[in-house]
Amino acid sequence: MSKLIYLDNGATSFPKPPEVYDFMDHFYRNFGVNPGRSGYDLCVETGELVENTRKMLTRFFNGADPNRLCFGYNSTDALNLIIFGMLKPGDHAVTTTLEHNSVLRPLYHLSRTGVEVDYVPFDKAGFVDPDDFPKRFKKNTKLVIINHASNVIGTIQPIREIGMHCREHGVPFAIDASQSAGKIPVDIEDAFADVVAFTGHKSLLGPTGIGGLYVREGIEIRLTRAGGTGVRSAVRTHLEEYPYRLEFGTLNVLGVAGLHAGLKWILHKGLEAVHRHEMTLTTKLRDGLKAIDRVTMYCQDDLADHISVLPFNVTGMEAMNVGTILDVDHNIACRTGLHCAPLVHEGLGTDKAHGAVRFGIGPFNTEEQIDAAIGGIKEIAEMARK
Ligand SMILES: Cc1ncc(COP(=O)(O)O)c(C=O)c1O
Repeated sequence: MSKLIYLDNGATSFPKPPEVYDFMDHFYRNFGVNPGRSGYDLCVETGELVENTRKMLTRFFNGADPNRLCFGYNSTDALNLIIFGMLKPGDHAVTTTLEHNSVLRPLYHLSRTGVEVDYVPFDKAGFVDPDDFPKRFKKNTKLVIINHASNVIGTIQPIREIGMHCREHGVPFAIDASQSAGKIPVDIEDAFADVVAFTGHKSLLGPTGIGGLYVREGIEIRLTRAGGTGVRSAVRTHLEEYPYRLEFGTLNVLGVAGLHAGLKWILHKGLEAVHRHEMTLTTKLRDGLKAIDRVTMYCQDDLADHISVLPFNVTGMEAMNVGTILDVDHNIACRTGLHCAPLVHEGLGTDKAHGAVRFGIGPFNTEEQIDAAIGGIKEIAEMARK
């Protein structure tokens, strides 16, 4: 069997740069202790890596204060802290139909307890209209939360324009940067954003189990959890000050180490160069698939404001079956179904057909792999015709 062609980088990046595996191994063997809890040298050194990574990520998101960069487990974890910590019964929130379930589901839960939610739809090309947001603002609007880059159709949303409206109306603005961080700049200042949620295992090229959020000064997120912080143990309630405020229990230091190495790799290569490589391959894939009879693509006509995920269907065959044949006959990994974003598929009209096939291209994919994927889909389209 040929070597696996991994085109599921929208779900998680794989493989990671060799430097990530090497550094994680080295770090965990030599420094894998609980940071910030004690004064012995090893503990201090482990703490230094955590604090350095906090600083790196703060710079990366153009934040001002590394203490406001809090580590958690992934975006879902960070988004839950944001949504449950910023909204309460009687509040109103504005989001979009481009959201992942890690935003939709916390909001659905809250809507059962008296939080009202408005969903801004996306247009035919896959973008929301920034001017749609202020029209929905009310006196009790307490949060706008938006997916920076869609994990289904890849469109990069106009967050700066949305952020300007939010700032003008004094509405806190949160960005889900799960797909964008590590692919395109996520600049909290430029976007007039107040909170950014990120996950380490996608384009930041770290391992699973590490992520977090950056919270701008002046924005408060209520405590929805409590636990150990390693410092000031005599205080009865969870500490109010950042970063402890939004960190609970022992940090995933191994994850921090991997994220550190992943981010270093990206900064060394240059965000723009990595994105250019991915979009060159995405364009080739789009063009190749477009030329195949029976292939329908969604929101891929103009790839200017896109990241490297590409959804499509083959007429006459369910997405899931296309995925199975790609896997079994072609050794190609992709993601099929609703991609944890059911409202996107409702908007595209693909929900009834059980979703779509999604290719997600990463920094280590090659032209040959893209040719193989196009060839595989050609064969599948032929099968579907019979
Ligand atoms: C846009 C978006 N938001 C949130 C998430 C959740 O990320 P995680 O599973 O790392 O929490 C994902 C993951 O697919 C995503 O694509």
